[in-house]
Amino acid sequence: MKRFLILLFTSSTFAADLVQHAREHSQGEVAYSFEVEALKKDTRDLPIGVFDSGIGGLTVLEAILTLDAFHNDTLQPGSDGKPDFADERFQYFGDQANMPYGNYSSAGRTDYLRELIVKDAIFLLGKRWFDPQTKSFKKDKPPVKALVIACNTATAYGIEDIRSALKAWGLPVIVVGVVEAGARGVQAAHRDGAVGVLATVGTCASGAYPRVIGQTLGLAGRSVPTITQQGSANLAGVIEGDPAFKESVAERCTTDVRELMQAHAKGGAASPLSTVVLGCTHFPLVQSEIDAAFTALRAEAAFEKLIAPKIQYVNPAEWTARELFRELATARIRASESTGRDTFYLSIPNPVRSDLKLTADGGLEKDFKYSRQPGELDREDSVNVPMTRERIPVTTRKLIETKLPEVWKRLAE
Ligand code: DGL
Repeated sequence: MKRFLILLFTSSTFAADLVQHAREHSQGEVAYSFEVEALKKDTRDLPIGVFDSGIGGLTVLEAILTLDAFHNDTLQPGSDGKPDFADERFQYFGDQANMPYGNYSSAGRTDYLRELIVKDAIFLLGKRWFDPQTKSFKKDKPPVKALVIACNTATAYGIEDIRSALKAWGLPVIVVGVVEAGARGVQAAHRDGAVGVLATVGTCASGAYPRVIGQTLGLAGRSVPTITQQGSANLAGVIEGDPAFKESVAERCTTDVRELMQAHAKGGAASPLSTVVLGCTHFPLVQSEIDAAFTALRAEAAFEKLIAPKIQYVNPAEWTARELFRELATARIRASESTGRDTFYLSIPNPVRSDLKLTADGGLEKDFKYSRQPGELDREDSVNVPMTRERIPVTTRKLIETKLPEVWKRLAE
């Protein structure tokens, strides 16, 4: 009877198999499980979990680490010269082996993507990680007290599944996602005109940004502006310096911004685009190139009246950081004292599996990656290992070192 009720309750969640699997392995000994009791104690001094499809979410972690928008003692808004999360420690996870998440929807695999996203959350809640030195699993990782979904695509497809799963497990873990936070950013930044969203193809296909921006403005009693989206299949890869892409960041931004404006013009909207949401983790890193593309396009007669003289950019990362502070304060689970070092993990193809289809540089082959089905919980195509500076591809490493200094300082050699 009890099992029937559990199944009934979780049937509304997509990842019902995964929810049930974790429940049946409540000691956290096997893949995709966690120790339930460890999360039913005082969680204040546990780390905060932040996850993304890869390294892009480090932009969100940087925004969290550098936020000073509140007084740490009074919790009132306003800077006090001290980082708002000074006493907290973070546990970051990037699902590098299974990314890009933004392309699962066009491959017809959103079902598998949704399972991956719940697995990411379970990893952070759990104790199990893979030690590449001994090629064995260790079970000594602390669970996290909060989950920050630092990936726009993962928030768009997975935040409801994660919330339902936590409810089914009876865990009071805080969940903050970049899309809801980004919509609050629009509420603060937007005045007149239309809103543009630049994101991955998957995020745009989900319709999450227009829906959540509409709800947020609607709840605030504001009218909902025209919202035009443009999905980019390549910009995140180009920013990371992926050699598969031959174009420069500036060229890619020019193409994507032009496509966004063509879609805006085609929509028949008379109002100029005045607010742009940088709805992919990587895009705030190239805001100046995106802005240069808008400036160049404004000089063309066809777009002159459709682009406002000054564009307001919304970086959801900043708003996510504020949201996280408020949620921790409301739940009274801010760290009681300085709690130590941050840790970083990255997924890699499972080295003990000989049947995986791999590329020349050791990644999961594209066709294999996008052909998988959910529900096969007894196989681990990828394992999660400590992320060191060494394990990050050289071009990406440079990007982190130059643009995300607080994260870089915390990454182990
Ligand atoms: N992190 C993803 C996002 O913000 C971009 C990279 C990917 O497609 O995995 O949507």
